[in-house]
Amino acid sequence: MSPEMAGQLPPVPPREYRLLSLPQIPEARGNLTALEELVHFPFRTGCVRWFHGAPAGNSWSPSGSHVGGALVVALLGSFDVVDDRQDPSYRVRLSRASIGLHLATSTRWRVEDPSTNAVGLVISSQPSGSARPESNQLDDELSAEMDPETTIDDCRAVTFPHHGGSQGSVTAAIPWIDVPFQISRVYYLYDVPGGASRGGHAHRELEEVLVAAAGSFDVALKDGRQVKTLRLDRAHSGVYISPGIWRELRTFSSGARCLTLASAPYDEADYIRNYHEFRRGKHAQ
Ligand code: TYD
Repeated sequence: MSPEMAGQLPPVPPREYRLLSLPQIPEARGNLTALEELVHFPFRTGCVRWFHGAPAGNSWSPSGSHVGGALVVALLGSFDVVDDRQDPSYRVRLSRASIGLHLATSTRWRVEDPSTNAVGLVISSQPSGSARPESNQLDDELSAEMDPETTIDDCRAVTFPHHGGSQGSVTAAIPWIDVPFQISRVYYLYDVPGGASRGGHAHRELEEVLVAAAGSFDVALKDGRQVKTLRLDRAHSGVYISPGIWRELRTFSSGARCLTLASAPYDEADYIRNYHEFRRGKHAQ
Protein backbone atom coordinates (compact mmCIF):
# COMPACT_ATOMS: atom_id res chain seq x y z
CA MET A 1 0.00 0.00 0.00
CA SER A 2 1.34 3.46 -0.84
CA PRO A 3 2.11 5.83 2.08
CA GLU A 4 -0.71 8.10 0.86
CA MET A 5 -3.26 5.26 0.98
CA ALA A 6 -2.03 4.31 4.43
CA GLY A 7 -2.71 7.88 5.54
CA GLN A 8 0.98 8.77 5.85
CA LEU A 9 2.79 11.61 4.16
CA PRO A 10 4.84 10.51 1.13
CA PRO A 11 8.55 10.32 1.94
CA VAL A 12 10.47 13.52 1.31
CA PRO A 13 13.01 13.03 -1.47
CA PRO A 14 16.53 13.06 -0.08
CA ARG A 15 18.11 16.34 -1.11
CA GLU A 16 20.65 14.52 -3.30
CA TYR A 17 17.87 13.43 -5.69
CA ARG A 18 16.38 15.66 -8.36
CA LEU A 19 14.12 14.78 -11.29
CA LEU A 20 15.19 16.55 -14.47
CA SER A 21 13.27 17.17 -17.63
CA LEU A 22 15.76 16.26 -20.35
CA PRO A 23 15.88 17.94 -23.77
CA GLN A 24 13.84 16.06 -26.32
CA ILE A 25 13.98 16.62 -30.08
CA PRO A 26 10.84 15.06 -31.57
CA GLU A 27 10.68 14.31 -35.28
CA ALA A 28 8.44 12.15 -37.48
CA ARG A 29 11.41 9.75 -37.70
CA GLY A 30 11.60 9.36 -33.90
CA ASN A 31 12.73 11.17 -30.77
CA LEU A 32 16.25 12.13 -29.78
CA THR A 33 17.56 13.16 -26.37
CA ALA A 34 21.12 14.48 -26.14
CA LEU A 35 22.99 14.93 -22.87
CA GLU A 36 26.24 16.85 -22.77
CA GLU A 37 28.63 16.64 -19.84
CA LEU A 38 28.80 19.80 -17.69
CA VAL A 39 25.62 21.05 -19.44
CA HIS A 40 22.82 18.54 -18.91
CA PHE A 41 24.54 16.83 -15.99
CA PRO A 42 26.95 18.77 -13.79
CA PHE A 43 29.98 16.51 -13.98
CA ARG A 44 32.40 15.05 -16.49
CA THR A 45 31.56 11.55 -17.67
CA GLY A 46 33.47 8.89 -15.77
CA CYS A 47 31.41 5.90 -16.85
CA VAL A 48 28.29 5.17 -18.88
CA ARG A 49 26.35 2.02 -18.02
CA TRP A 50 23.18 0.51 -19.34
CA PHE A 51 21.28 -2.37 -17.83
CA HIS A 52 18.49 -4.65 -18.93
CA GLY A 53 16.99 -8.06 -18.45
CA ALA A 54 16.20 -7.91 -14.74
CA PRO A 55 13.33 -10.27 -13.96
CA ALA A 56 10.12 -8.29 -13.48
CA GLY A 57 9.33 -7.67 -9.85
CA ASN A 58 12.91 -8.30 -8.68
CA SER A 59 15.12 -6.00 -6.68
CA TRP A 60 18.34 -5.27 -8.52
CA SER A 61 21.42 -3.25 -7.77
CA PRO A 62 23.18 -2.37 -11.01
CA SER A 63 25.67 -0.09 -9.39
CA GLY A 64 25.62 -0.48 -5.63
CA SER A 65 27.18 2.69 -4.38
CA HIS A 66 29.17 5.09 -6.46
CA VAL A 67 31.34 8.07 -5.74
CA GLY A 68 30.16 11.41 -7.06
CA GLY A 69 27.09 12.20 -9.11
CA ALA A 70 25.01 10.17 -11.51
CA LEU A 71 22.12 10.58 -13.90
CA VAL A 72 19.67 7.67 -14.25
CA VAL A 73 17.18 7.38 -17.14
CA ALA A 74 14.66 4.70 -18.12
CA LEU A 75 15.53 4.30 -21.81
CA LEU A 76 12.76 1.71 -22.20
CA GLY A 77 10.06 0.43 -19.87
CA SER A 78 10.08 1.53 -16.26
CA PHE A 79 11.63 0.82 -12.87
CA ASP A 80 11.80 2.28 -9.37
CA VAL A 81 14.96 3.81 -7.95
CA VAL A 82 14.96 3.14 -4.21
CA ASP A 83 17.08 4.61 -1.43
CA ASP A 84 16.65 3.09 2.04
CA ARG A 85 18.43 5.67 4.12
CA GLN A 86 15.21 6.98 5.54
CA ASP A 87 12.09 5.25 6.80
CA PRO A 88 9.95 4.88 4.75
CA SER A 89 12.39 4.49 1.88
CA TYR A 90 12.55 7.08 -0.86
CA ARG A 91 11.24 5.58 -4.09
CA VAL A 92 10.73 7.17 -7.49
CA ARG A 93 9.49 5.45 -10.65
CA LEU A 94 11.27 6.30 -13.90
CA SER A 95 9.26 5.55 -17.01
CA ARG A 96 10.20 8.08 -19.70
CA ALA A 97 13.35 8.54 -21.73
CA SER A 98 12.96 12.31 -21.41
CA ILE A 99 13.09 12.33 -17.58
CA GLY A 100 16.32 11.85 -15.67
CA LEU A 101 16.98 11.31 -11.99
CA HIS A 102 20.05 13.24 -10.91
CA LEU A 103 21.84 11.93 -7.84
CA ALA A 104 24.11 14.71 -6.67
CA THR A 105 26.49 12.84 -4.44
CA SER A 106 27.61 9.43 -3.40
CA THR A 107 24.71 7.35 -2.18
CA ARG A 108 23.42 3.79 -2.27
CA TRP A 109 20.46 3.07 -4.45
CA ARG A 110 18.92 0.16 -6.23
CA VAL A 111 16.39 -0.63 -8.90
CA GLU A 112 13.14 -2.33 -7.98
CA ASP A 113 10.13 -3.56 -9.91
CA PRO A 114 11.53 -3.23 -13.43
CA SER A 115 9.04 -3.86 -16.19
CA THR A 116 9.98 -6.90 -18.30
CA ASN A 117 11.42 -4.75 -21.09
CA ALA A 118 13.19 -2.18 -18.85
CA VAL A 119 16.49 -0.72 -20.04
CA GLY A 120 18.19 1.81 -17.77
CA LEU A 121 20.99 4.25 -18.49
CA VAL A 122 23.37 5.49 -15.78
CA ILE A 123 25.90 8.21 -16.53
CA SER A 124 28.21 8.62 -13.56
CA SER A 125 30.94 11.09 -12.74
CA GLN A 126 34.65 10.54 -12.87
CA PRO A 127 36.00 9.09 -9.65
CA SER A 128 37.16 12.11 -7.67
CA GLY A 129 40.86 12.79 -7.95
CA SER A 130 41.32 10.73 -11.10
CA ALA A 131 43.16 12.52 -13.82
CA ARG A 132 41.99 11.62 -17.29
CA PRO A 133 43.18 13.00 -20.57
CA GLU A 134 41.05 15.76 -21.96
CA SER A 135 39.19 15.28 -25.21
CA ASN A 136 41.25 16.42 -28.19
CA GLN A 137 38.09 18.06 -29.36
CA LEU A 138 38.10 20.44 -26.45
CA ASP A 139 41.65 21.54 -27.16
CA ASP A 140 41.70 21.64 -30.92
CA GLU A 141 40.01 24.08 -33.21
CA LEU A 142 37.56 22.29 -35.46
CA SER A 143 39.20 22.05 -38.84
CA ALA A 144 36.98 23.05 -41.72
CA GLU A 145 37.96 20.02 -43.80
CA MET A 146 36.89 16.45 -43.35
CA ASP A 147 39.67 13.86 -43.31
CA PRO A 148 39.60 12.51 -46.88
CA GLU A 149 41.71 9.49 -45.91
CA THR A 150 39.45 7.65 -43.46
CA THR A 151 37.77 4.51 -44.77
CA ILE A 152 35.21 2.12 -43.41
CA ASP A 153 38.16 -0.03 -42.32
CA ASP A 154 38.81 2.61 -39.64
CA CYS A 155 35.40 1.76 -38.18
CA ARG A 156 35.30 -1.32 -36.00
CA ALA A 157 33.10 -3.44 -33.81
CA VAL A 158 33.39 -2.67 -30.09
CA THR A 159 32.53 -5.17 -27.37
CA PHE A 160 31.99 -3.57 -23.99
CA PRO A 161 32.66 -5.18 -20.63
CA HIS A 162 29.41 -6.60 -19.36
CA HIS A 163 28.22 -8.99 -16.76
CA GLY A 164 24.93 -10.68 -16.62
CA GLY A 165 23.01 -13.40 -14.96
CA SER A 166 19.59 -14.18 -13.67
CA GLN A 167 19.43 -10.71 -12.09
CA GLY A 168 19.94 -8.92 -15.40
CA SER A 169 22.83 -7.61 -17.42
CA VAL A 170 24.95 -4.48 -17.05
CA THR A 171 27.27 -3.07 -19.73
CA ALA A 172 29.84 -0.37 -18.98
CA ALA A 173 31.82 2.08 -21.10
CA ILE A 174 34.68 4.05 -19.57
CA PRO A 175 36.09 6.98 -21.57
CA TRP A 176 39.59 6.41 -22.99
CA ILE A 177 39.43 2.73 -22.00
CA ASP A 178 36.38 1.22 -23.66
CA VAL A 179 36.05 4.00 -26.23
CA PRO A 180 39.02 5.97 -27.61
CA PHE A 181 37.77 9.39 -26.45
CA GLN A 182 36.26 11.35 -23.59
CA ILE A 183 32.49 10.78 -23.66
CA SER A 184 31.48 14.44 -23.90
CA ARG A 185 27.94 13.64 -24.99
CA VAL A 186 25.54 10.73 -24.70
CA TYR A 187 22.47 10.71 -26.90
CA TYR A 188 19.78 8.21 -27.73
CA LEU A 189 17.08 7.64 -30.30
CA TYR A 190 13.72 6.24 -29.24
CA ASP A 191 10.24 5.73 -30.62
CA VAL A 192 11.69 5.45 -34.12
CA PRO A 193 8.77 4.33 -36.34
CA GLY A 194 9.20 1.16 -38.41
CA GLY A 195 10.52 2.09 -41.84
CA ALA A 196 12.13 5.35 -40.66
CA SER A 197 15.79 6.03 -41.27
CA ARG A 198 18.17 8.15 -39.20
CA GLY A 199 21.65 9.44 -39.81
CA GLY A 200 22.29 10.35 -43.41
CA HIS A 201 25.38 12.43 -42.69
CA ALA A 202 29.08 12.35 -41.90
CA HIS A 203 31.10 14.27 -39.32
CA ARG A 204 34.27 16.23 -39.92
CA GLU A 205 35.87 15.54 -36.53
CA LEU A 206 33.39 13.76 -34.30
CA GLU A 207 34.04 10.18 -33.21
CA GLU A 208 31.11 8.07 -32.06
CA VAL A 209 30.22 4.62 -30.84
CA LEU A 210 26.68 3.40 -31.57
CA VAL A 211 25.01 0.64 -29.56
CA ALA A 212 21.61 -1.02 -29.76
CA ALA A 213 20.86 -0.69 -26.03
CA ALA A 214 17.50 -2.31 -26.87
CA GLY A 215 16.22 -4.04 -30.00
CA SER A 216 18.14 -3.84 -33.23
CA PHE A 217 18.83 -1.71 -36.29
CA ASP A 218 21.17 -1.65 -39.30
CA VAL A 219 24.03 0.81 -39.73
CA ALA A 220 25.33 1.38 -43.26
CA LEU A 221 28.81 2.95 -43.37
CA LYS A 222 30.16 4.59 -46.51
CA ASP A 223 33.53 6.15 -47.26
CA GLY A 224 32.77 7.24 -50.81
CA ARG A 225 34.16 3.99 -52.28
CA GLN A 226 32.99 1.09 -50.14
CA VAL A 227 29.83 0.36 -48.19
CA LYS A 228 29.58 -1.87 -45.13
CA THR A 229 26.30 -2.67 -43.37
CA LEU A 230 26.22 -3.99 -39.82
CA ARG A 231 23.27 -5.12 -37.79
CA LEU A 232 23.49 -4.00 -34.18
CA ASP A 233 21.38 -6.27 -32.01
CA ARG A 234 23.26 -6.84 -28.74
CA ALA A 235 23.38 -4.43 -25.83
CA HIS A 236 27.07 -5.02 -25.16
CA SER A 237 28.41 -4.54 -28.65
CA GLY A 238 28.52 -1.51 -30.87
CA VAL A 239 30.36 0.13 -33.72
CA TYR A 240 33.05 2.80 -33.56
CA ILE A 241 32.64 5.33 -36.39
CA SER A 242 35.66 7.46 -37.21
CA PRO A 243 35.40 11.00 -38.59
CA GLY A 244 34.70 11.36 -42.30
CA ILE A 245 32.38 8.35 -42.61
CA TRP A 246 28.84 8.58 -43.92
CA ARG A 247 26.28 6.65 -41.83
CA GLU A 248 22.67 5.63 -42.35
CA LEU A 249 20.59 3.89 -39.69
CA ARG A 250 17.61 1.81 -40.81
CA THR A 251 15.34 -1.13 -40.06
CA PHE A 252 14.74 -0.27 -36.43
CA SER A 253 12.94 -3.02 -34.59
CA SER A 254 9.99 -2.06 -32.47
CA GLY A 255 11.25 -0.65 -29.14
CA ALA A 256 14.82 -0.22 -30.43
CA ARG A 257 17.04 2.24 -28.58
CA CYS A 258 20.14 3.55 -30.36
CA LEU A 259 22.56 4.78 -27.70
CA THR A 260 25.45 6.91 -28.97
CA LEU A 261 28.61 7.84 -27.09
CA ALA A 262 30.14 10.90 -28.73
CA SER A 263 33.52 12.59 -28.41
CA ALA A 264 32.33 16.21 -28.49
CA PRO A 265 29.33 18.43 -27.83
CA TYR A 266 26.76 18.91 -30.57
CA ASP A 267 27.98 21.23 -33.32
CA GLU A 268 26.01 21.57 -36.56
CA ALA A 269 29.18 22.90 -38.27
CA ASP A 270 30.76 19.47 -37.81
CA TYR A 271 28.07 17.79 -39.97
CA ILE A 272 28.23 17.09 -43.70
CA ARG A 273 24.62 16.43 -44.63
CA ASN A 274 24.92 16.46 -48.40
CA TYR A 275 26.15 13.16 -49.86
CA HIS A 276 27.57 14.76 -53.02
CA GLU A 277 29.56 17.21 -50.92
CA PHE A 278 30.74 14.27 -48.80
CA ARG A 279 31.91 12.33 -51.87
CA ARG A 280 33.66 15.37 -53.28
CA GLY A 281 35.49 15.78 -49.95
CA LYS A 282 36.56 12.14 -49.91
CA HIS A 283 37.89 12.28 -53.43
CA ALA A 284 39.66 15.59 -53.00
CA GLN A 285 43.04 13.83 -52.77
P1 TYD B 1 20.72 14.31 -36.34
O1 TYD B 1 22.12 14.14 -35.84
O2 TYD B 1 20.53 14.74 -37.74
O3 TYD B 1 19.91 12.96 -36.14
P2 TYD B 1 20.19 11.48 -36.64
O4 TYD B 1 21.58 11.39 -37.14
O5 TYD B 1 19.93 10.65 -35.45
O6 TYD B 1 19.19 11.15 -37.67
O7 TYD B 1 19.95 15.27 -35.36
C1 TYD B 1 18.57 15.46 -35.44
C2 TYD B 1 18.25 16.84 -34.86
O8 TYD B 1 18.64 16.87 -33.49
C3 TYD B 1 19.00 17.96 -35.55
O9 TYD B 1 18.11 19.06 -35.60
C4 TYD B 1 20.12 18.30 -34.61
C5 TYD B 1 19.57 17.92 -33.26
N1 TYD B 1 20.60 17.42 -32.32
C6 TYD B 1 20.95 18.15 -31.22
O10 TYD B 1 20.43 19.27 -30.98
N2 TYD B 1 21.88 17.66 -30.35
C7 TYD B 1 22.48 16.48 -30.57
O11 TYD B 1 23.34 16.06 -29.76
C8 TYD B 1 22.11 15.71 -31.72
C9 TYD B 1 22.75 14.38 -32.01
C10 TYD B 1 21.16 16.22 -32.58
